[in-house]
Amino acid sequence: MCPEAIREITILPGRNKQGEPERFDAITIRPGETISIVGPTGSGKSALVNDIEIFAQNDTVTGRTVLVNGRQPPEEFVRDPAQKPVALITQHTKCLADLMVREFLLMHLRSRKIEDETVVQRTIDLANEFTGEKIRGDMKMTSLSGGQTRSLMVADAIVISNTPIILLDEVESAGIFKGRVIETLKRYGKAVIFVTHDPLVSLLSKRRIVMRDGSVEKVIEPGDSEREALDEAIRLDDIICRMRERIRAGETFTAPVSA
Ligand SMILES: Nc1ncnc2c1ncn2[C@@H]1O[C@H](COP(=O)(O)OP(=O)(O)OP(=O)(O)O)[C@@H](O)[C@H]1O
Ligand SMILES: [Mg+2]
Repeated sequence: MCPEAIREITILPGRNKQGEPERFDAITIRPGETISIVGPTGSGKSALVNDIEIFAQNDTVTGRTVLVNGRQPPEEFVRDPAQKPVALITQHTKCLADLMVREFLLMHLRSRKIEDETVVQRTIDLANEFTGEKIRGDMKMTSLSGGQTRSLMVADAIVISNTPIILLDEVESAGIFKGRVIETLKRYGKAVIFVTHDPLVSLLSKRRIVMRDGSVEKVIEPGDSEREALDEAIRLDDIICRMRERIRAGETFTAPVSA
């Protein structure tokens, strides 16, 4: 259990790559909220999520400070992996352990002293809601595809680590149902921060942080003004997903998919 419930985390400004001060006052995120981080390659998106992951205290390349409930976070948040309230999942998240999915999850359960072993199947079932490529408990972790691995890591962060804050650095990939992941994270009341190049993920987030040259350039909160664009992104994403599944299944297209 976390020593203190998280009500909010606050990012305080640092410096851009030229060493000039960032021009925002503070960015606060609370459980149940989603923020996306967008911007060109090399603009500092990953650096920002890393600041959050390690609760930077003016001790990283960006000079930012991250507070929990308005204060410097307790030591355990940073040092003790079991108390850490943040799960970071990246494109490079891989599992090298030569274990079956079931064994891997059981090991994680034990390390967190969770006795209810039904949690293993619940985690696998949740992961299977995120991906079309079915994951089974008797599969080898190392044989999972990128989409399956990331789906399992997100489900593991929700069900087993149960961290209130989840950071996802460009995890969207062909094998993962983005809309469903976001919906689930909101339902579980997680504070979620996505680094993304995906329009649907950006539009589904309540706020967008725009990065440039190592600094936060602006924070956009579109409210309902992007409703039509979101509907369009949902519709297009749905078409693309269905096409992908059919192509994978070896089908050909002789009629429109959008019907
Ligand atoms: N404010 C900053 N001051 C100094 N260096 C920075 C700052 N922000 C980022 N950097 C450095 O710039 C480089 C690129 O940053 P980063 O990897 O965060 O970019 P990115 O937006 O995630 O790019 P990509 O889209 O390719 O993943 C890194 O070496 C990072 O340490
Ligand atoms: Mg990056």
